[in-house]
Amino acid sequence: MRKTQVGIVGAGPAGLFLAHLLRKAGVEVVVLEARTREYLETSPHRIRAGVLEWGTREMVARAGVGDRMVQEGLGHGGIYLAFEGQLLHLDFHALAGRGIWVYGQQYLVTDLIRHHLEAGGEILFSHEVVGVEDLEEAPTLVYRTPDGRLERLRCEFAVGADGSHSLARKSIPGIQVHQKTYPYAWLGILAQTRPAAEELIYASHPRGFALFSMRSPSLARNYLQVAPEERLEAWPEERIWEELSLRLSGVAEVQPGPILEKSLTPMRSLVVEPMQHGRFFLVGDAAHVVPPTGAKGMNLAFCDVAVLYRALVAFYKEGEASLLARYTQEALRHVWQAELFSYWMTTLLHTAADPFEDRLREAKLRHLGESLHLQRFLAENYVGLHTSGRYTHYIPQSA
Ligand code: PHB
Repeated sequence: MRKTQVGIVGAGPAGLFLAHLLRKAGVEVVVLEARTREYLETSPHRIRAGVLEWGTREMVARAGVGDRMVQEGLGHGGIYLAFEGQLLHLDFHALAGRGIWVYGQQYLVTDLIRHHLEAGGEILFSHEVVGVEDLEEAPTLVYRTPDGRLERLRCEFAVGADGSHSLARKSIPGIQVHQKTYPYAWLGILAQTRPAAEELIYASHPRGFALFSMRSPSLARNYLQVAPEERLEAWPEERIWEELSLRLSGVAEVQPGPILEKSLTPMRSLVVEPMQHGRFFLVGDAAHVVPPTGAKGMNLAFCDVAVLYRALVAFYKEGEASLLARYTQEALRHVWQAELFSYWMTTLLHTAADPFEDRLREAKLRHLGESLHLQRFLAENYVGLHTSGRYTHYIPQSA
C-alpha cells in the first residue's frame, strides 16, 4: 500500500493552497482529485466569486503564488449599495483601513495547480476518493484509479477539502450539521460587456436583489435573486438584461452584451462540528458553506488552511500536537463570524415573502445609510479584518 505524510482529498483552492504550503515546508503531500485538470481550470460550472479579502490576497502573495493575481486582479476600495433609488458608496479604506481584490477563483486554482506541479508536487487527477478508513491511527484514503481499480493511500494525516458535497464530511462519526436554507436562489451570468460600475453594486429592489460584479474591465458577472425552483430556460437573454436593468433603474446603466455563461446557485448556510476526528481534518466548503452574498466562501477556506497549516508545521517541526488538537476550536471562531456576516448581508438585501419582515429589512437598510457604525460593521467584515486579517502572519513570507 502507498504511504505519504499528508493526503489531501480535493484540488480546489483550499486543498491546493495547503498542499503548496506543506510541500514548501518539506512535508510530503499527495492530492487526490476526482475531476480532470481541464475541468477544474475551464468548466463554466466552476465560475465562483472573485472577491479576495486583503488578508487572503496577502496570504497568497506571501506564499509566492500570487504573481498573476497581482498583475491581472483589480484592487477595489469599496462597494456600492443601491436601495430606494440611491447609491451609497462604502469606502472600505476610510471605514476599515483596507480594500479588497477582485480575481476569479478559477484563475487562482489554475495558478495553484501550475505552481504546485512545476515545483514537483503531486496531484492525482481523475482519482476519486470513495472512502476514508482508520481516521484515528493512520487515515487511509480509498480511491478509484482512472482505469477503475480500487487502491489505498495510507497517511500520517489526511485532509478533506472536497467541497460542499463532501464525502469526507460524512466519514466523521457523530458529526453535527447546523444548516439553513433560504427561500431564493441566484441566477448568474458572465457577459462580454463593460461592468455596470468600477466597483461592485449590491442592489436591493422591490423586484428582488441584484448584484453587479466583474471579472475584468470587459467581462461583467451579474446575478439576480430568483425563486429556488426557477429554471434557466425561463430566462432568455432579453429577459435577463431587462430584469437587471429594472433592478438598477435610476441608479446606474446596464450595458447588455453577449452572455457567455448562465448558472443557478442555491443559497444555504452550513457548519459542521467538529471539523476533525483523530488524524483527519476538514477545510473549506467540506466543513462550512455560506450563501454567496458576502463573498466569503473562498476567504473562509484560506483561513482554515492557515490555521491547519500552522498546526501541522508545529507538529512536524517541533513535535507539538496541541495546535492540531485545538484546530476545530480555533477555526470555528472565524467560521461563525463569516456565517453571521453572510446571513446578515443575505437577509438584508433579498426581498422576503413576508411583508412584515420586508418592512423591517427596509428599515435596516435606511439605518445603514445613516449609521457610520453599521457601515463600519459591514466594511470590517467584508474586508475580513478579524478573519483572514488575523492569520496572514501564519503564512511565511517566501523569498
Ligand atoms: C462574483 O463576482 O462572482 C461575486 C462577487 C461578490 C459576491 C458574490 C459573487 O458577493
